Amino acid sequence: MNRIKKIWNWIDDRSGYSDYALPLLKHIVPRDARWWYVFGSATLTAFMVQVLTGICLAMVYVPGGDEAYQSLKYITEDAFMGSIVRGMHYYGASAMVMLTVMHMLQVYLHATYKYPREMNWMSGVVLMFVVFGMAFSGQLLRWDDNGVWSVMVAAEMAARAPFIGPWLSDFIFGGQTVGGSTLTRFFVFHVFVMPGIIFAGIGLHLMLLLRHGVSEMPNADQPVDPATYKKEYESRLEKTGVPFWPDAMWRDVVFSTFVVLGIVACAAIFGPPSLSSPPNPSNIHSNPMPDWYFWWYFTILSTLPSSMETWIILGSPVLGFLILFLVPFLSNKGHRAPSQRPWSVGIIVFGLTSLVVLTIYGYYKPWSPDFGVKPLPESVIGASSGPVFEGGQLVHQKGCLYCHHIDGYGGHRGPVLSDIGQKLTRQDITIRIMNGGYNMPSFAGSLTSEELSNIVDFLLTRDESQKPQTSK
Ligand code: HEC
Repeated sequence: MNRIKKIWNWIDDRSGYSDYALPLLKHIVPRDARWWYVFGSATLTAFMVQVLTGICLAMVYVPGGDEAYQSLKYITEDAFMGSIVRGMHYYGASAMVMLTVMHMLQVYLHATYKYPREMNWMSGVVLMFVVFGMAFSGQLLRWDDNGVWSVMVAAEMAARAPFIGPWLSDFIFGGQTVGGSTLTRFFVFHVFVMPGIIFAGIGLHLMLLLRHGVSEMPNADQPVDPATYKKEYESRLEKTGVPFWPDAMWRDVVFSTFVVLGIVACAAIFGPPSLSSPPNPSNIHSNPMPDWYFWWYFTILSTLPSSMETWIILGSPVLGFLILFLVPFLSNKGHRAPSQRPWSVGIIVFGLTSLVVLTIYGYYKPWSPDFGVKPLPESVIGASSGPVFEGGQLVHQKGCLYCHHIDGYGGHRGPVLSDIGQKLTRQDITIRIMNGGYNMPSFAGSLTSEELSNIVDFLLTRDESQKPQTSK
C-alpha cells in the first residue's frame, strides 16, 4: 500500500497531475448547465470513436488504386469484427457531422460566442470545417462510384481558384487526372493532416473553455457587458457553482454513452455501406451520389444555372466560413437570451429548413433523368391501338419519360407534359422534339417520321380540359 502510494506520489510530482488535471475535473461550473450542454462532449466522444475505428481500418486498408477495393472487401467480409468496425466508422462519421452542427447551433442559439468567448467560437468554426473535410475525404477512400463524387467536386472547386487553380488541383490530386495517386493523397489528408489539425484544435478549444469557464444559460436580465462580465460571472459562480465532476459531467457521460451505443447499433443492424463492384475510375458513374450529409450541397451544385457555378462552387464555402468565423465581431456584447434575439432564432429556423428541404431534394434528384421509369399503362394513354397508343408507348421506349412527367409517370428533369396538347400546337411540338432544347436532346436523328407523328398524336391528346369527357 505504502509502496503504491509512493509510486503514485512520484508520478504525481513529476507529471503534475494534481496541479493540472485534477483542477480540470473539479473546476467550478454554473449549476444551470444542463442537457443543453452535452453536444460538445458528445462530439469529442464521436471523434474518439472515429480515431479508434480509423486506426483499426488503417491497419488493413491499402490506399492504392487497385488494392483499395480488395482490402475493403476483405475488411467487410473476412476480417475479425471488420464489418462492425467499418460500420462504426461510417455511422460515427454521420454522428460526428450531426453533433458538430448541433453543438454549433446550441452555442449560436445561446450566443455563447459573445465576450469573452469569441475565440472559443472561432476555433470551433475551424474545427467544424475540418470535420467536413474529414467526411468529404473519407468518402473518396471507399473508392467507388459514389466516393468519386467528392473528388469531382473537389476538382471543380480547386480548378476554379483564381491564379493558383491549376497548381492547387495538381496538389490535391497528385497529378493531372484522378487515379491511384489521388487516393494516396486523400489518404494522407484523411489520416495524418486533418486529424492532426483536429487534435491541436480540440486542445486549443478545451484550453479556452477552461480559461473562460462554461457559460451560464442566457438570462434576459443579464446582457453581456465586457467591462463587468468577468467579475459578475465569477461572483455568480462562487454563489451557485458546482464542481464539473461529478455534478455536471454525469449528463455528458450519459449522453455520450447513448451516442456510442447508437453508433454500434447502427453498425450491427444496417452494416457498412455496400461495396457494389470494383471501381473503374475511367468509367465514372454518370450520377454519383455523396453521403447524406452532403446532399444539400449536391442539390445546390446540381440545380445551379451554369453561369453562376464558378462563384458558388468556389465562393460559397469560403464565404460560409468567413461569415461564421466572424460572427463574434458582428456582435460580441448585449443580450444572449434567444427571446431578445429574434433575428438569430429566425436565422436558425431558416437555415435548418433550407438544409432539410435541400437534403430531401438531393435524395429525389429531380434534376437528373430517372432511368427507372415505368411505361404508361393503357388507362393513362387512353387508347389500346392506333397511332395514339403507339405514341403512348414510344414516349417510354424513346426515353422521353426519363425527363418528362405525364399523369403520375416519369421523371422531373423537364417540364410536365400532362396538358401539353392544350399548350402547344402540332407544329410546336414537332419542332421541339426534332430540335431539342436547353437540356433536351434533339431527336431528329433517332425517330422515324412515323414514330414522330405517333408521339405528336399522343401528346396532342394530353389536354386536362378534355380529360373528363375522354376518360368517360
Ligand atoms: C434529357 C432529358 C429530356 C429528354 C430525354 C426529353 N426531353 Fe423534352 N424537354 C426537356 C427539357 C429540359 C425541356 C425544357 C427545356 C426547353 O424548353 O428547351 C423539354 C421540353 C420539351 C417540350 C416542350 C415543353 C413545353 O412545355 O414547352 C416537349 C413537347 C418535349 N420536351 C417533348 C419531348 C419528347 C416527345 C421526348 C422524347 C422523344 C423528350 N421531350 C425527351 C428534357 C428532355
